[in-house]
Amino acid sequence: MSSRLRLSQCGLAAGKRARMHRILYQHGLGNGTALFLPYDQGLEHGPRDFFADPIAADPRYIIRLALEGGFNGIAVQIGLAEKFYWDYAGEVPLILKLNGKTDIPSDERALSSLHASVEDAVRLGADAVGYTLYVGSPAQDADFAQYRTVRQDAQRLGMPLIVWAYPRGEAIEHKGGKDSFYAVHYAARVASERSSAVTCGSATATTRCVSSPSCGRSSRSTRRRKEAVMKALVVYESMFGNTEAIARAVAERLEMNFDVIVAEVNAMPTARDADLLVVGAPTHAFSLSRPRTRADAARHGTVKAGAAAVGIREYLDCSPRLTEIHAAAFDTKVKKPALPGSAARKAYRRLRRLGCHMVTDAMSFHVTDMTGPLVDGEQERARRWADLIAATVLAGRRSAPTT
Ligand SMILES: Cc1cc2nc3c(=O)[nH]c(=O)nc-3n(C[C@H](O)[C@H](O)[C@H](O)COP(=O)(O)O)c2cc1C
Repeated sequence: MSSRLRLSQCGLAAGKRARMHRILYQHGLGNGTALFLPYDQGLEHGPRDFFADPIAADPRYIIRLALEGGFNGIAVQIGLAEKFYWDYAGEVPLILKLNGKTDIPSDERALSSLHASVEDAVRLGADAVGYTLYVGSPAQDADFAQYRTVRQDAQRLGMPLIVWAYPRGEAIEHKGGKDSFYAVHYAARVASERSSAVTCGSATATTRCVSSPSCGRSSRSTRRRKEAVMKALVVYESMFGNTEAIARAVAERLEMNFDVIVAEVNAMPTARDADLLVVGAPTHAFSLSRPRTRADAARHGTVKAGAAAVGIREYLDCSPRLTEIHAAAFDTKVKKPALPGSAARKAYRRLRRLGCHMVTDAMSFHVTDMTGPLVDGEQERARRWADLIAATVLAGRRSAPTT
């Protein structure tokens, strides 16, 4: 049974309630659970986060991703909000991050300084403000004082306040470390007692989930307990192990939102019980492999035992209809400019013909040569692709509003 409170039970002022209603019920999942896309890595980590996937450095692309991926809001710093939110104002809720810090000084005395105000958030049309609180840091007294001014302004202007509460600093390291249950729980508790609308006791998640407002508890694991968990099946074909590595990266990431089974195609796993089917195959002769191309592969290197027996083509050939199932397809292929053909595109068409609801376009990941290895950063790109799939499937799973 769900213990989620209704907005009407939270005693919120009208402004906060209206904004929370927009976030929770008019955007993204639309069912009272929110999935936010935080995009402050440029400030918090520096440019290194974008090297693997340069397009992620483009704020316009990320805001569009928040919209098309069905997120309930995007959290950005004021500079990006001023320059880029304009194009999408009102289409996806803005969470204006009010403070932040760089990765350059050590975390021992962590403090995120303020560089925007709640008034800025009102002017920009934000539906909430965000504040990073470092609990346990030697600078925590200054942090609490700074936080108090934000909380008072948020209260006065009817603005929901989301606190990302991180345990940090040298003392935390002596009490179990920043990822220990003690530290994360303590940080979330402090934020909750300091009256945030929504609290995330968190470490490093790229997508962060919140449940009911003012109730303080929020994390992916809490959300998973409250919902019937969906099932995902990741089926892969792989001669030299590269497609398998991508499949495992995808599966590992999907596990945050699904019960996942990863299976080699020669196990012929049934997809009928799955809510989501992801298939992956190496590109052979511009398309899905055939018995002849799989036999060819053995002439180029050591092929995994049993891998040549059956491929994704045959798997889909003998599949029953798969209506009501979400699906996505990827392949691996050699990184050469303008090399035509893709196993994923072929698998995509097959899946669609079987009645699957395709979640996203066919995706290719690159190997440097016939037997691999994968091009640097491709597993990380696969994780982000999995995040997009998960967000899209969850967004399609809207339930009736409960306000
Ligand atoms: C017989 C054969 C044909 C191939 N044809 C193509 C091709 O048309 N285009 C391409 O980009 N890569 C091609 N490749 C390279 C594969 O895509 C590469 O071996 C694969 O991505 C490695 O994945 P795996 O380790 O999971 O088998 C071919 C490889 C083999 C063995």
